[in-house]
Amino acid sequence: MQAASVDRSFYAPVEAELDELRRRLATVGDGGHPTFQAAVRHLFGSSGKLLRPTLVFLSARFGPTDDRETVINLAQSLELVHTASLVHDDIVDRAELRRNVPTVNATWNDDVALIVGDYLFAKAYALAAVLPKPEVIAMVAQTVFALCDGELGEVTAAPQLPSEAAYFERIELKTASLYAACCQGSALLADAEPEHVAALGAYGTNLGLAFQITDDVLDLVGDETEFGKAVGQDLAEGMATLPMIYAASNGDRDLAARIVAPGKSDDEVRELLRTIRASGGVERARAKALELHDAATRALTGLPARPERDALRDLADFVVSRVR
Ligand code: FPP
Ligand code: MG
Repeated sequence: MQAASVDRSFYAPVEAELDELRRRLATVGDGGHPTFQAAVRHLFGSSGKLLRPTLVFLSARFGPTDDRETVINLAQSLELVHTASLVHDDIVDRAELRRNVPTVNATWNDDVALIVGDYLFAKAYALAAVLPKPEVIAMVAQTVFALCDGELGEVTAAPQLPSEAAYFERIELKTASLYAACCQGSALLADAEPEHVAALGAYGTNLGLAFQITDDVLDLVGDETEFGKAVGQDLAEGMATLPMIYAASNGDRDLAARIVAPGKSDDEVRELLRTIRASGGVERARAKALELHDAATRALTGLPARPERDALRDLADFVVSRVR
């Protein structure tokens, strides 16, 4: 599907909050080291999709308490956690491109990227620390633990194809935990009913899983410019993802060994891509992403009907639109 034809109307109910957030993100470097200031301009100069802050702002509408400043602080904190984790992840992955711009490690170097990520993370925690509810502050910290556990699980994994369950455990930690925290943390700050907090948590978790599977599918079959980062990267590095696990699920040991081999040549990546596509693994992974999208939208039925609920449903459609 072409990006232009995708419905982005889910941003509309929270456009004012998003504008304010963009202004604040642009000033995160103020008062910091000139290199940090330059990195912040580089990172936030072209805005990302801001899906996580959008989830925070929409979820806040399901409770009676309307404390705009607090909700913007949570949104900014979690977006900074996300950005810090990507800056660090790009060092780990030796990635050169993200959101169609060179990564911090490629623009400066790994040492700078390491410290810029730390700096962003500290900025995130400074915002979380002044949130009025200790349980939400704890949730931000728990989410960072989960991101680290997921990333450590990935970098320390034995060079063999993981089970489907191990893959899901990893992506729940490294991706879905943050989506869930955006929805749940915000609902808690808004004093939403416990069952609505739970419904938003279930929505966030399933949405995050669908997002990561979509990302993993696009890493195999996406268009580089539209994807904004290099395609075939997971396969080249031997990082097994769901479409690859499905491709080798008939017990093909030779295929499994070839998938997890690190540092592949371009020819080997091309050849493996052909094999994986022919196996139907990509279609199965797509179907799984759509199943999780459906689970996310089912969770929304536990919330009161209002425009923000429709926006959350549209946001879920957007997340999987690239693999439909
Ligand atoms: C991207 O995954 C990476 C993550 C979702 C999590 C990375 C987490 C850390 C580096 C630890 C936490 C660190 C801090 C400072 C909070 P991917 O490589 O599958 O996606 P990609 O293709 O977009 O790189
Ligand atoms: Mg990466």
